Amino acid sequence: MNYSKKTVTDIDVKGKKVLLRCDFNVPQDKATGEITDDKRIRAALPTIQYLLDQGAAVIACSHLGKPAATFDSYVKKQAEKGKDPASVTEEEWKKSLQKLSLAPVARRLGELLGKDVVMASDVVGPDARAKAAALQPGQILLLENTRFEKGETKNDPALAKAMADMAEVYVSDAFGAVHRAHASTAGVAAYLPAVSGFLIQKELEIIGGALQSPKRPLVAILGGSKVSSKIGVINNLLEIADTIIIGGGMAYTFSAAQGGNVGASLLEADWEDYANDMVKKAAEKGVKLLLPVDTVCADAFAPDANTQVVKSGEIPDGWQGLDIGPETVALYCAAVKDAGTVIWNGPMGVFEFAAFAKGTEAVARALSETDAITIIGGGDSAAAVQQLGYADKMTHISTGGGASLEFMEGKELPGVACLLDK
Ligand code: 3PG
Repeated sequence: MNYSKKTVTDIDVKGKKVLLRCDFNVPQDKATGEITDDKRIRAALPTIQYLLDQGAAVIACSHLGKPAATFDSYVKKQAEKGKDPASVTEEEWKKSLQKLSLAPVARRLGELLGKDVVMASDVVGPDARAKAAALQPGQILLLENTRFEKGETKNDPALAKAMADMAEVYVSDAFGAVHRAHASTAGVAAYLPAVSGFLIQKELEIIGGALQSPKRPLVAILGGSKVSSKIGVINNLLEIADTIIIGGGMAYTFSAAQGGNVGASLLEADWEDYANDMVKKAAEKGVKLLLPVDTVCADAFAPDANTQVVKSGEIPDGWQGLDIGPETVALYCAAVKDAGTVIWNGPMGVFEFAAFAKGTEAVARALSETDAITIIGGGDSAAAVQQLGYADKMTHISTGGGASLEFMEGKELPGVACLLDK
């Protein structure tokens, strides 16, 4: 895939209406609707500010959550949750939509920008169209949740065209949503000159650079609970990396595949053959594949469980591995020390519990101390690095969860592929 895409600085936006796709899919307090983490809004500020400073009129848009765009689809979802479809009311559906309105995002964005953000009550309806038409250079409008339109996730060309009709240029800065081929993330680019914002540009340069021409040795640290969710990444990185380090719950599937006793640890028995294939493939390709040599195991999945350190493959029955052990920590930290580039995706253990955060913390510290380019995939690893206080020591923390995973899998990202090549 070509990661060299035109950006906002390659196109004249002065006096133009710019449709800007952001990823404002922010976490909210369930009871109050308050935004609990505004990182994604902050991440969009440089591009928004640049466009406003250039004299563009910015029509921002984003999805939020996974609303049911029609009453029928809402009824279906409720039925799947075990509710009697006949008891589901339209009022309930409308309330569910209200909860996913972007109005709180407009307020927060306004506070951060220090200026009014005009909020539209629809996406391409009369309110959005009128407000977009009246928008002046230097002003910003936020459209309502794009997923309130049923054509959004279907990448409906009619919706894409209706969005495009309000603007003259399309800028995408929604890195977190570039793996979605939706009307506002990809379809709209068929109707307008389409370029990236600074956020996508940075993600492409750093992650794309590491995948295409890494400073070597390239060390990939892969953790998380399931082998099955990391197959694509392991496969792709086996073609690129010099060393692959395996940690987290998925290490127990590798251990079991080699005949080890993993006790009550997380295990995907169906993936044992695959794990063995990966070990074989790594050997064939000359990629160093490091697996844990010891593990911290517990007699329960609880923060105050009894613990002991045992050799990998020797976990007693009834005990479960919840973190890498001290010998593994030393081994992994040594592998990171002289790396040119480190890509990290997935924690080494259950870092949410202090007793099992040591492995993840040690790796985060090792990354903070190396001179290597350090790239943290979004989602859990980004959360771990932030929670443990190492965020500002990393070269790059991706803003995309699913998007950065698919990027590392080497998949084509529809929201990137649709942008103009440099
Ligand atoms: C994310 O939160 O990872 C992005 O906003 C994409 O959201 P989605 O998984 O609902 O498409």
